[in-house]
Amino acid sequence: MSRFDVEAARFDFPTLHQKVKGKDLVYLDSAATAHKPKLVIETMRRFYQMDNANVHRGVHELSERATLSYEGARRDIQRYLNAASHREIVFTRGTTEAINLVSNAWGRANLHEGDEILLTWMEHHSNIVPWQLIAEATGAVIKVAPIHDDGSLDMEAFEALLGPRTRMVAVAHVSNALGTVNPVRRIIELAHAHGALVLVDGAQGVPHMRVDVQALGADFYALSGHKLYGPTGIGVLYGRLALLEAMPPWQGGGDMIRVVTFEKTEYAPPPARFEAGTPNISGAIGLGAAVRYLNTLDFDAVHAHELDVLRYGTALLEQIPGVRIVGTAEGKVGVISFLVEGVHPHDLGTALDMEGVAVRTGHHCAQPVMQRMAVFATTRASLGLYNTREDMDRLADALRKSIEVFR
Ligand code: ALA
Repeated sequence: MSRFDVEAARFDFPTLHQKVKGKDLVYLDSAATAHKPKLVIETMRRFYQMDNANVHRGVHELSERATLSYEGARRDIQRYLNAASHREIVFTRGTTEAINLVSNAWGRANLHEGDEILLTWMEHHSNIVPWQLIAEATGAVIKVAPIHDDGSLDMEAFEALLGPRTRMVAVAHVSNALGTVNPVRRIIELAHAHGALVLVDGAQGVPHMRVDVQALGADFYALSGHKLYGPTGIGVLYGRLALLEAMPPWQGGGDMIRVVTFEKTEYAPPPARFEAGTPNISGAIGLGAAVRYLNTLDFDAVHAHELDVLRYGTALLEQIPGVRIVGTAEGKVGVISFLVEGVHPHDLGTALDMEGVAVRTGHHCAQPVMQRMAVFATTRASLGLYNTREDMDRLADALRKSIEVFR
């Protein structure tokens, strides 16, 4: 008996209950952005309706309430990730900004000519381009660990690429295009043994598994709120406090300083040092509500449910002639990326939409992994905790129907 009642959980997500093209919506694009539970929507509405003030600045009642909620959200997220201190939680715009923060602030201070940054072939552009920019600026060199045909990381090759010049390993927890789960704990152990730091791109990791940053041993862990059932425009950089304390700021402005004079400015300690300007207050509070919502669920049971739906859907799609699944690594989560012989993914995406089924098509902001898998694009069905076996039946039926139309 599952301890997760998916039908009850679906009622928490109002957007799921609508018709698209005259059919009940089947939403299979949670890797792009997940839907939001009522608690998140209601918490943000209440903030704007009742509080709406700037944080850390006013002594008036509304500002105090806003600051308490904003800093309360930071503590909610600290507990959710089991970070040692709330000061290790920096609010950013999302995973992309979190990685840019580390590549700029840590990279400029620590990378030198010939230092190596180790990535993998399955990284999202947001975990490639920031490193290329800092490599150009500092003379550091990018190395890339290969992947196997099933989309799993080649750990032997990865280990062989670690060397005395490796300063940073930046790796996806879960591939957004393939669903591969990387053995990040082992990666961190190996990297640390070589004296390198590790940044984990957790954008697709946290939505599918409970992450304990202390148990993982990650130096930095980046995530996006909107994929974790929270709002857009908010994300988190977790960083070990000693590292954050040693990093210079990367953006200057209000709230990130202790004292400003024209001669010299003293910076605030983290996390404020990295949160210049008025932050996304309602977004942070909304994300706090998202993790509080997730805390009400039995995450192991949610995970088991998601895996059941993934396996069920995979088996259904495999039975459809002409369908080929791209990314079949053992233990994968959340994503079924596939091709249909003779049908362009964009055409297929449009045909599925006519059946009320929402998927993403294209290169998924991961062009290198598409090149590696020798495809230019895929159709991707990605799961949230609210998807069901019935959603997979609807996907398979819509797929069969679409294929008929294109043949
Ligand atoms: N990175 C997001 C995705 O995979 C947008 O769709």
